[in-house]
Formats: sequence, C-alpha cells, structure tokens
Amino acid sequence: MSPFRENLLAGKSAFVAGGTSGINLGIAKRFAELGARVAVVGRNPEKAANAAREIGRDAIGLSADVRDYAAIRTAMEQVVAHQGKMDIVVSGAAGNFLAPALGMSANAFRTVVDIDLNGTFNVFRGCHDLLNLPGASLIAITAGQAVNPSPLQIHACAAKAGINQLIRVLAMEWGPDVRVTGISPGPIANTEGMARLAPDAAAREAHYARIPMKRWGEVEEIAEAAVFLCSDAARYITGTILDVDGGSQLGDASPRNMARGMAPAS
Ligand code: COA
Ligand code: NAP
Repeated sequence: MSPFRENLLAGKSAFVAGGTSGINLGIAKRFAELGARVAVVGRNPEKAANAAREIGRDAIGLSADVRDYAAIRTAMEQVVAHQGKMDIVVSGAAGNFLAPALGMSANAFRTVVDIDLNGTFNVFRGCHDLLNLPGASLIAITAGQAVNPSPLQIHACAAKAGINQLIRVLAMEWGPDVRVTGISPGPIANTEGMARLAPDAAAREAHYARIPMKRWGEVEEIAEAAVFLCSDAARYITGTILDVDGGSQLGDASPRNMARGMAPAS
C-alpha cells in the first residue's frame, strides 16, 4: 500500500537511467503507479523492453550506455519526443564487483568509475535543456561506500564519492530551477548489488550485523524515498543525500559491539 496519494505524479515525465532492473526499476514502477509517464534505459535492449512491459502504462524501454554521452542524449531526445520535457531524472546505472586494488586492472577501475561517476555526469549534463523548468528534480543513486571506505571496493568508493560531490555542485549551479538530490540505499534484498557484494553467508552476516533495524531493505523503500524527493513535499530540499539504509552506515550495530559497552571495566 503506497503512502502517497493516487496520481501524485500525474502529468510528470520521468527518465530512469539504469531503470531496467533492481532498485531503479522499482523506482520507475512506483513513479508509473503514481501517474508519471516513465522511460527506462539500460545497455541490454531485451532487458529494457521487458522492463517497460513490466511497468506497463505506455512506459518506454530504451538501450543506451551511460558511458556514451551521445547515446544517452539520443535516448533522452527520443523520450522527450514521446512524453514531453522531463520533470524527473534518476541516474542509477552502476557496475560493481569485489576485488582488491592489486587484483584490479586499470581498465577494471576505470570501467566502474566510468559507469557510475561519468555516467551520472553524462545523464545530468545531457538532460538539462530537456527539463521542464522550474521544478525539475534530479536524483542520483549513490551508496555508503561514498563515505565509508570499504576494502575490495576502491572503484565503487571513488566513483560514489564523486557522485556525492556532483550532486552538491549541481544543486548549487542549477538552483532554483532544478533540485538535485541523492539516495544512498543500504543493503537491499534480492538485488544484483547484494548478490555481488555479499555473495556468501559470512558476508551477509557481516552486513546484517551493521543494520540497527535488523532487516534487509526493500526495493519499495528506496522507491518511496525517490517519490518523496521528487515530490512537492521536498520542494526546499536540494543537495541532500538521503540514507535509506536502516541505519547501516552508523557503525557496528552487532550484539557483540553493544555488549562491549556493558562489560564491567577491568
Ligand atoms: N575482478 C576483477 N576485475 C574484473 C572483475 C572482477 N570480478 N569483473 C570485471 N573485471 C574487469 C575485467 O577483467 C576488465 O578488465 P581488463 O580489460 O583489464 O581485463 C574490466 O573489469 C571491464 O570488464 P568488462 O566485462 O569488459 O566490462 P563491461 O563494461 O562489459 O561490464 C562490469 C561492466 C564489469 C561492471 C559488469 O560487472 C557489469 O556489467 N555490471 C552491471 C551490473 C552490476 O554490477 N550491478 C550491481 C550494481 S551495484
Ligand atoms: P542492478 O539490478 O544491476 O541495476 C543496474 C542497472 O543499471 C541495470 O538496469 C543495468 O542494465 C544498468 N546499467 C549497468 N551498466 C550500465 C551502463 N553502462 N549504461 C546503462 N545502463 C547500465 O543493480 P541494483 O543492485 O538494483 O543497484 C541499483 C543502484 O543502487 C546502483 O546505483 C547501486 O550502486 C545502488 N545501490 C545498490 C545497493 C543494493 O543493495 N543493491 C546498495 C547501495 C546502492 P544493463 O545491465 O542492461 O545495462
């Protein structure tokens, strides 16, 4: 049951880069359920077509690589031709894998930075003159690695940290017509990201120990944060990065860590 009023986003056009699976597809679906016309973009054309079918309501599914500025710009122009200027743009395409710095080639590092960080620049830079102004809302999907250094994640840490600054700089440059915000999800159940970053029981346990809410997040919970951020309720919010993570970036919330504080001093 959505906490938002029906048709909250009626008349809005939304473009979701990386919206063909997982968290971003969940965001696109919720936008459509609330009345927005939605377009999703990913590299794989079949996956994009399936995602559009799953969303329904005349959603558009297109293939473009966010690393390719011209391709992403062409996709946006196609969307605007069908749906009118864009009110909401989400940049959520990402690539990730666990690898130590010494197990990573220069191309491996560059690939993730290129998709996540340069991709977000391309999506936001490419959309500006296709936005409905004033009142447009841009949302980048970042991650806790932006703030908390994490071994085996040097590429994602660097890329997501860059995205956080990109959000803040664009919020300054593009206000008051455009609001630019970010969402930093915690570990979200049944996603490609979780499958890659917590591939076994020990890794899942380590992630779980850090969540004060003591459960995995759900795709719908990220979608609802996205609806809030692009809605009028967030009209005075820009440059903000919203953690939607059950508190998992606060630190070690494991019972063992809690018990330490209660042990009598020796
Ligand atoms: N460990 C070390 N290096 C790795 C790796 C791993 N697990 N996986 C890929 N690489 C390296 C490749 O070897 C290659 O480097 P090289 O040319 O020096 O050999 C480089 O990364 C690029 O790989 P390639 O497969 O050519 O890139 P791609 O552009 O086809 O795919 C990825 C990008 C690698 C990020 C791929 O995992 C992907 O498409 N991910 C999207 C889905 C995803 O990650 N979702 C979770 C989001 S949080
Ligand atoms: P996902 O299902 O793998 O989604 C990634 C999406 O991006 C797919 O639609 C993918 O489609 C697309 N994509 C990848 N590379 C692309 C490229 N070069 N150009 C265009 N599209 C590309 O992953 P997810 O786990 O839901 O993660 C979604 C976002 O949430 C990411 O930004 C991730 O960093 C962030 N996040 C996730 C978690 C989590 O728990 N899952 C936690 C924190 C942050 P194609 O493969 O067809 O291109």
